[in-house]
Parts: sequence; C-alpha cells; structure tokens
Amino acid sequence: MTVSPIVVLTGAGISRESGLHTFRDADGIWATVRIEDVATPEAFRRDPRRVHAFYNERRRGLQAPTVAPNPAHRALARLEAEWPAEVLVVTQNIDDLHERAGSRRVVHMHGELLKAFCGRCAAVMEWRGDLGVDAACPACDHAGALRPHVVWFGEMPLEMDRIYRALDGCGLFVSIGTSGAVYPAAGFVAHVRGRGVAKAVELNLEPSDGADRFHEARYGPASRVVPRFVDELLAGRGP
Ligand code: APR
Repeated sequence: MTVSPIVVLTGAGISRESGLHTFRDADGIWATVRIEDVATPEAFRRDPRRVHAFYNERRRGLQAPTVAPNPAHRALARLEAEWPAEVLVVTQNIDDLHERAGSRRVVHMHGELLKAFCGRCAAVMEWRGDLGVDAACPACDHAGALRPHVVWFGEMPLEMDRIYRALDGCGLFVSIGTSGAVYPAAGFVAHVRGRGVAKAVELNLEPSDGADRFHEARYGPASRVVPRFVDELLAGRGP
C-alpha cells in the first residue's frame, strides 16, 4: 500500500458501542420517532418545542458519564497521528466522540449536537445545556432564533467543497458504521470509484446498502474491526 491521503467516512455505527443509538437498526432512533416530526425544517417551524425536546434529550445523553469514545474512535485518532500522509475523518455523526478520542481533522457534515446556530445573526456557538424557544443568542442578544446546529433532512450538509477536495485527493476511502441510506454521504464511494485511483473499504457490522461498490469489506463490531484494520495499515500490510 502506497502512502497517500486517507478519507474516513463514519456513521452512527461507530458510536453504537459508546452507548449511542444508531438510526435504522431495529433499536434505532427512527424506530421510535418519525423523521418528519423532529428532523426537518418544517417540523421545527411547526413545533419547535418538540424538536428542542428531542435534541435536548440527545444532548444530555451524549454528556452522560457512561458515554465515551470506544476503541474504534481511538484507533482513528492514532491513524491520524501516525499515518505519514493526511487523514480526514468525515462524520455524519453529531456527537463529539472523534474529538474526545483525539482526532483533530474532523468534518461534521451533519452538524454538531453541542453547538447552537442563531437564525438571526448566523453565529455558531458551543451549547451544552438544554435549548428552548425563548433562548437568547449570546452573540446578537436576539431571543427565540436559536436552533440546534444540526443539518436536517432537506438541508445542505456542511463543508461539501472541503469533503469533495479530500475525496478527489485520497488513495484510500474507508466507510465505517453507516448504512449507506443517506445521500450525499452514501454517494462518496461511487465518487471515489469514479476516479479509478482510490481503494474503497467498508468496515461495518453487516453489508451496507452500497456494499458491492467497495473493493473490500470487513464485517463485525467497530470496536474490534477498526483497530485491527488500522494496525494493518500502520504495519504496511493492508488493505
Ligand atoms: N459496529 C459497526 N457498525 C455498526 C455497529 C457496530 N457496533 N452497530 C451498528 N452498525 C451499523 C449498522 O449495521 C448500520 O449499517 O451501522 C450502520 C448504522 O446505520 P444508520 O443507523 O442508518 O446510521 P447512519 O448511516 O449514520 O445514518 C446516516 O441518517 O438519519 C440520518 O442524520 C442521520 O447522520 C445520520 C444519517
């Protein structure tokens, strides 16, 4: 394996063993609540209290003492520190477990749960407590325009130019813990394959929707599969 930049795409599966739910598994978030009720701009306009309550609960859950990075997050931080070329983690996750594990180059394409966005002045700020309909923006003082800094269905994911630049320059694309059900992330493997130069590997509990688009796959829990894969890469043995 030549030393070239790596792009790692992560999804909810990498944080499952840290105690956070995935979305589309049998016990996933979308089995208990409807996307149209909590994760669209229309839902927020219709019933902001309900949407705030949904994210407040998740924000509290993320900060529970039992939730911590698992060996998969830590392995990716080690890869970034030790790989001689650039490693970029592009995550669909709104949790902060990559950062807590030590990853520095992380793009949160679906936003961040521990941040709020002001619809009035467009400021983005750290936000660890509950968010409500009357909360005032610390930047512009306007009350009632704050929302979770998350990308809802129907909205444009963040930093897409940076992501596609990285995909265009990588020699290895690794997709971890994502079902491949949500675009544009689900289309990254086809984008990389279209260039013909990058190798694409899937690490997941089970084959994802786009499993046949990858050159290679390893199936099992992320906490086991990811550290083993990173060990192989750093030892120059794979993929
Ligand atoms: N290790 C590895 N993979 C796992 C594990 C685990 N321990 N547990 C579950 N998985 C896999 C599942 O098999 C599934 O393929 O992780 C994947 C999770 O898929 P989704 O629940 O669909 O999550 P994700 O792909 O991140 O969803 C994408 O959808 O609702 C939106 O905005 C939300 O960012 C999210 C996006």
